Amino acid sequence: MCGIVGYAGNKSVESVLMVGLACLEYRGYDSAGIAVIDHDELEIRKEKGKIKALEALLREKPVRGNVGVGHTRWATHGEPSQINAHPHTNEKQTIAIVHNGIIENYMQLKMKLQSLGYIFLSNTDTEVISHLLSMELSAKKTVKEAFLSLFKTIQGKWAIAAVFEREPDKVYFAQDGAPLLIGKGKREYFLASDLSALVRNSTEVCYIKPKQWGYFSKEELVLFDFDGNDVVPEMKKQEAKWEDVDKGGFPHYMIKEIYEQAGIFRKIIDRRIKENGELDFSEMGLSKEILSKVNRIVIQAAGTSLHSGMIGKHYLEQFTKIQTDTEMSSEFRYRNPVVEGDTLIIAISQSGETADTLASIHEAKAKFLKVLSMVNNVNSTIARESDAFIDTCAGMEIGVASTKAFTAQVLHLLLFAMYFSTIKWMMSDELRKELIDEIKQLPTKIEYILNKAPEIEKWAQDFINTKDFVFLGRTYNHPIALEGALKLKEISYIHASGYAGGEFKHGPIALITSEVPVVCIANKSEIYPKMISNIQEIKARSGKIISIVTEGDVEAKSLSDYCFEVPACHEFLSPILNVIPLQLLSYYVAIARGCTPDQPRNLAKSVTVE
Ligand code: F6R
Repeated sequence: MCGIVGYAGNKSVESVLMVGLACLEYRGYDSAGIAVIDHDELEIRKEKGKIKALEALLREKPVRGNVGVGHTRWATHGEPSQINAHPHTNEKQTIAIVHNGIIENYMQLKMKLQSLGYIFLSNTDTEVISHLLSMELSAKKTVKEAFLSLFKTIQGKWAIAAVFEREPDKVYFAQDGAPLLIGKGKREYFLASDLSALVRNSTEVCYIKPKQWGYFSKEELVLFDFDGNDVVPEMKKQEAKWEDVDKGGFPHYMIKEIYEQAGIFRKIIDRRIKENGELDFSEMGLSKEILSKVNRIVIQAAGTSLHSGMIGKHYLEQFTKIQTDTEMSSEFRYRNPVVEGDTLIIAISQSGETADTLASIHEAKAKFLKVLSMVNNVNSTIARESDAFIDTCAGMEIGVASTKAFTAQVLHLLLFAMYFSTIKWMMSDELRKELIDEIKQLPTKIEYILNKAPEIEKWAQDFINTKDFVFLGRTYNHPIALEGALKLKEISYIHASGYAGGEFKHGPIALITSEVPVVCIANKSEIYPKMISNIQEIKARSGKIISIVTEGDVEAKSLSDYCFEVPACHEFLSPILNVIPLQLLSYYVAIARGCTPDQPRNLAKSVTVE
């Protein structure tokens, strides 16, 4: 949440910062701003709204120079407005700060500074940083001394970047719990909250760790820890490609990422399934000996990642017979859960930066538990702070609504449960072989579904004015009902709820009228007859049925107002195929309603605040 960028080099800082901000806009789009050193003077431009509004301001009032910082905001403290937009500055306008995260003790600090005569312009927590630095500098401290004192004063999880008029060639930065990277180009350095903004210009990157800070000019990068000790920057080759962050001809990242799923599955199959059928989790670094001692598993995650975890629970319990629970990270961390030493915690996160998931890892580690994370960003804080991690291999996900990362998580949970089952000797060779064969067919089946996307696009027109949606699924597809509802509400702003089919008659069925479409996930499986009962009960109350069925289905289809057929597959794999039409439904309904799927209202990707 919130994107920050910085630059020192020979190029026009205005254009470098604006390109960087455009890459990070999915992290927040309430307001945007930049601060640059223009002829040794600090110049700030900021505007409420999306980056386009800032671009218009810069056309009227351009800035020049080669050093600066920028910000795109997801509001935490203070409403979206020009005054609350970053950068924030001190009274003399000699320091400019951009910030991602939360300063938890800002109110105390603000009151103290106000009592000393400092005047605040905004309602943000960030502004305390510029005044605190200004106070230290006016007490004749060096910039280094001012920063070291700042780190002792502020509390929370945050990352900042700053420019100072008195050091016009440098960008300062620090992080304590929010991601920050430095990229190296040709006699130039870049700064960003995530890799997507560095792909175009940087050949090498350095991931700044918590409690590290420093500065760069165009010539050098200097790093310290919060005690002021020197740290040698660890530069890594930057391996992402421009195609990873480009829309590739699609109108939105969300639809591009939905379409990428077949290709991603091919890559995962190549990487994880060896020719002899064995599964390869070599990067995991959690020995078979440790896994053999696990007696309970707790999966903790948030949002869409929690839904994949709920499917993972079924896989792990089926294939390893180890009791597995799923927990919302935001609850797990505060409820002092009962967990024994032989419990394995699995944390699932696309971004690897979700604050609640990270805090739950800390909670688990405080209880001396082993933590295995499944992350899409292997350079993330969650990957770093876990005992072991699995790369979910979905490639950079930029669409705010998670799609390809979800299916990649589900496939990895399935493969991991199968791998784990070899340690516990719980799965028959026949089933293993059957599943491997079926998994290998998934990319073609996903392509088949995507080729039928126009069917769903056509339906979307019928739901432009719909106010409520219900999604029903059972067992492996109950989490898909939850995920379908989450996708629809976050992208199209239509209220939607997902339920387990069996629970529906215990209350929620009261919602049914002819105005409420009900998406019923009714593939051929043991529980198919039960889903048919759900459909009958809804029809009897004049509900509108949208069914997702197995190809060739007759019964559910004949009862449905809209019906989408997915290829037949093993029940274990059905969630992967079923979610794709639901991703497409949310996308096309959002488009039909004139919503912006990559920038949904009030949301931003990578929830780094609690
Ligand atoms: C919904 C969505 C969110 C995330 C959640 C966790 O489409 O993207 O619900 O799944 O914020 O994020 P990660 O997986 O990055 O921890």
